[in-house]
Amino acid sequence: MNKTEALRRISELREQLHKHNHNYYILSQPTINDFEFDMMMNDLLALENKFPEYADENSPSQRVGSDINVEFKQVAHEYPMLSLGNTYSEEDVRDFETRILKLTEEKIQYVCELKYDGTSISLKYKNGKLVQALTRGDGVQGDDVTTNVKTIKSIPLSLQGDAYPEEFEIRGEIMMPFQVFEKLNIEREEQGESPFANPRNAASGSLKMQNSSIVAKRQLDCYLYYLLGKQLPGKDHYQNLELAKSWGFKISDDSKLCNSIDEVLEFIKYWDKQREELPVPIDGIVIKVNALDQQEELGYTAKSPRWAISYKFKAERVVTRLNSVAYQIGRTGSITPVANLDAVQLAGTVVKRASLHNSDIIANLDLYLNDSVFVEKGGEIIPKIVGVDVDQREANAEKITFIDNCPECGTQLIRIEGEANHYCPNSILCPPQITGRIEHFIGRKAMNIDGLGEETIELLYQENLVRNVSDLYRLKKEDLMPLDRMGDKSADRILGSIKESLEVPFEKVLFALGIRHVGQTVAKKLAKTLNSIQGLKAASFEELVEIDEIGDKIAKSIILFFEDEAQNNLVNELVEHGLQFELNEEELANQTNKLVGLSIVISGSFSLHSRDELKALIEQNGGKNTSSISKKTDLFLAGEKVGPSKLEKVEKFGIKTISEKEFIELIK
Ligand code: IVH
Repeated sequence: MNKTEALRRISELREQLHKHNHNYYILSQPTINDFEFDMMMNDLLALENKFPEYADENSPSQRVGSDINVEFKQVAHEYPMLSLGNTYSEEDVRDFETRILKLTEEKIQYVCELKYDGTSISLKYKNGKLVQALTRGDGVQGDDVTTNVKTIKSIPLSLQGDAYPEEFEIRGEIMMPFQVFEKLNIEREEQGESPFANPRNAASGSLKMQNSSIVAKRQLDCYLYYLLGKQLPGKDHYQNLELAKSWGFKISDDSKLCNSIDEVLEFIKYWDKQREELPVPIDGIVIKVNALDQQEELGYTAKSPRWAISYKFKAERVVTRLNSVAYQIGRTGSITPVANLDAVQLAGTVVKRASLHNSDIIANLDLYLNDSVFVEKGGEIIPKIVGVDVDQREANAEKITFIDNCPECGTQLIRIEGEANHYCPNSILCPPQITGRIEHFIGRKAMNIDGLGEETIELLYQENLVRNVSDLYRLKKEDLMPLDRMGDKSADRILGSIKESLEVPFEKVLFALGIRHVGQTVAKKLAKTLNSIQGLKAASFEELVEIDEIGDKIAKSIILFFEDEAQNNLVNELVEHGLQFELNEEELANQTNKLVGLSIVISGSFSLHSRDELKALIEQNGGKNTSSISKKTDLFLAGEKVGPSKLEKVEKFGIKTISEKEFIELIK
């Protein structure tokens, strides 16, 4: 292929891929399946590699992100990013209208929009290309997060058509959908990291990450709601957003044009209830004057426009008493302060405790013992203390200060730079870390040891029978029998289950070890790539980060683990007890690359294999089993009685369906 042909083909592929991205991420109406999409992307990547002179930073191939660490550059906003005045009641909203009517005699039309609860972003486009993305920062200047923003699939890199202004800015909110947020937090907890408090923190935390290839995996979404520039096409806000939609932006379909303040109040009332059904968090409604000339006439105060206001939904809030602060120690030593409260009813549940997250939060709240505190359960899942009624404070109340030493073992706490949490570094001897590790080790997804609850582990620890996980394999019936409420049958069950755990495959043993940042998926990946604990121990940092999905943080943590003599001794003892520390022969023999790169969904009931077996077969052959059908699905492995909604999706995305028999043939 000569250069001219290559350039033509590259442009054609870029244009098509942009269009398919739009169909999928904005319109939710894909016209090709994932395989076809990937093939086109592969062609583009190959051509871009071969003809680097045609590189374009807005090529759809740039969506995957990069491993290069970036320091964010501070850039001044061309138009300052203002905030909005808040209102909390019908009266406040009517006052807003009264203020406006004093300044203009004309009839006012309002646009009501959802107030998305994420992190705001300002995007600049020149000649239809995304050239810059800035965070709000202090409103005057923000962080240049262009590289990270390019990984967000619903943000167009190139615009459609040619009716857009030569240069403009568009602002909106980057968010993490609830579903993605919940999944991310489960993964974080599995890896011994502290979960994000809410989707907003998760979105802004993700956007500020140094490694854009991780941002790409966070599945952020973005709604745009404000167009700025010198030559905007429409004469009102609503019309401009409609036009922006036609250029390829994701604009909410839930906005409404209202001709009176009563209609605005109705909209507010509707969404106060209906917001529970949305896939992304909102915390209120934004009300904007529609006509741009009226906006101009009304103007701005120092901080916010006079032509717009936000109405904030009430998070249910109660007052209760703060009795004490306890400090929980996780299996990795991380310290979480928890407030003990007088029990109080809040949003349908009885609340007795609230997380205080870390020392900064305690300091900011300026808490004293026995304070009357305000507790909310807004968008957050866990209730939190949002403030103190200082007037109610007792005269000689004792100030709450974060602890310096571990409340369990007395060791001085440490705080790793850049992290919010304090840690107890005494991992080997600190009791809750020991019992926490044992609880993790015996868990269903790890060694699956039955009959040993939290209480029994506590007893075993107190009786000095278990000091680390390898002690479990030394337990005898006569050790267990004297324990409180231990019967003959229970003891047999525990011992039987411990014995059975010797057969648990290597990937689960590896997960059970509780290496920081090594969750289930990572453990599986490591086991399948390096085959044994010896292989893992021998791998260098460089070799580890070469493995798909293993980043610097995980690699560092693995290296640290094996540098620790106590951890090495523990592994050696477990090896001696006979746990599986390498892939078994069958796993090794069965491993093929036949399904590499394929994402497969299993559904329905099967006659030859259980679903778990099918899942294992997919993975042994290099494939990936995913739970929900999307454009990215390559194969649909269908059994009996597949639900109609699944079949509909399979058809919609044009995914190839195979039966159990065909699947077995495929991997034979
Ligand atoms: S308009 C000058 N519209 O709320 C007006 N803001 O307190 C600019 N937000 O920083 C903002 N949804 O992050 C606007 N539909 C919406 C919004 C919205 C969420 C956020 C935005 C802004 C903050 C203002």
